[in-house]
Amino acid sequence: MKKLKIADGVYMLTMNVEDILFEGIWKLENGVTLNSYIVQGEKTAIIDGVIGWNGVPETLYKNFKEIGIDPQDVDYLIVNHMEPDHSGWISNFRKIKDDFTVICTDKAAKMVTSFYGEDKIRIVKEGDTLDLGKGKVLSFHPVPNVHWPDTMYTYESNTKTLFSCDMFGAFGMMGDHSFDDEMTPAEIDFFENEGIRYYSNVMATFTSSVKKAIEKAKTLEINTIAPGHGPVYRKNPQKIIDDYSRYTQYAEGAGKNEVTILWGSMYGMTAKALDCAEKVLQREGIKYNKLHMPLVSESEMVATVFKAAGIIIAAPTYEYKLFPPVAAALNEIGRKRINSKTAFRFGSYGWSGGAEKELKEILERNRMNWDFIESVEFEGAPKEEDLVKVEAGVLELIKKMREKVVE
Ligand code: FEO
Repeated sequence: MKKLKIADGVYMLTMNVEDILFEGIWKLENGVTLNSYIVQGEKTAIIDGVIGWNGVPETLYKNFKEIGIDPQDVDYLIVNHMEPDHSGWISNFRKIKDDFTVICTDKAAKMVTSFYGEDKIRIVKEGDTLDLGKGKVLSFHPVPNVHWPDTMYTYESNTKTLFSCDMFGAFGMMGDHSFDDEMTPAEIDFFENEGIRYYSNVMATFTSSVKKAIEKAKTLEINTIAPGHGPVYRKNPQKIIDDYSRYTQYAEGAGKNEVTILWGSMYGMTAKALDCAEKVLQREGIKYNKLHMPLVSESEMVATVFKAAGIIIAAPTYEYKLFPPVAAALNEIGRKRINSKTAFRFGSYGWSGGAEKELKEILERNRMNWDFIESVEFEGAPKEEDLVKVEAGVLELIKKMREKVVE
């Protein structure tokens, strides 16, 4: 765990976590950080705690001491969001101290009690404040559904710091640099990619709420954004606000000027048509990402579909339905409410069709509202006339997706 000073009396404690399935689902190739913050006036508050895994709370206490704070001096636990990656340590803390107050929204309070048995809770509403002394005043601003209904921002008015918890967060472990002004161009790119992965995996379902949270952030005068995951933005907090605005657009059908190909092939027939599609993309100078299902992790698949303006689905019929790994991927994309993408599908069938029927069912069930170019289906191997249609479909996709490009 690293200890960093954000301002006088404001500290960040951050730890890298790897080899976990985030939320028990998401395989994170590049890990994630868990960030906590201490604000110290005459009273001391911790904002966004840590996970409750063996040894983690104890490491937190050790770090408190190294910045000159006795854990016994902590008066307030500000629970911006109850998900246990931020709150899991509370039961452990209760064992070493019995007089602290949890501060959270009414929705979080219910869960703080049901998860940890805590009942010394102060429930806060929009604009409520907590004066810690020595000029440090916290105010509270609910931003429901970013990412649970309980979530709020905490804002410190003296330093103009927004403690945003999951909002404005990113996956990815931090090396030596934790602040935006320290980052190299490669680190900035890394955290943008990890931000897209994080948004698509964790936040995309709640895009309408994210938009409201962006608007609420704009009502505050912000010098620093200090999220619960990923870097702290103190040089240019507007960058992460703008990035998040762009991500909301990706969830609603926009994307980078690239095509993501979600593909599977049983015996290479659909793959032959995919070869043709790739040649067209190469010839036209379009960047593309190939996701061979089911070999790609769920996290990578969701992120790579999310960020592209154009989607190609290359998948055959399998037992009267769509090739199952591709069907499962599209279902997950639908659950994440990644809507209104521009797409084109082609694929082979043998003794029966059926892929198209299931594709339509998935789109309708999830109300995805994707804009599909007419699909190309072929019996067995693609013939010359099928490849001509595939080429035409790819060209039409390239043309249509241009309207959706937001970089
Ligand atoms: Fe970082 Fe929704 O928890």
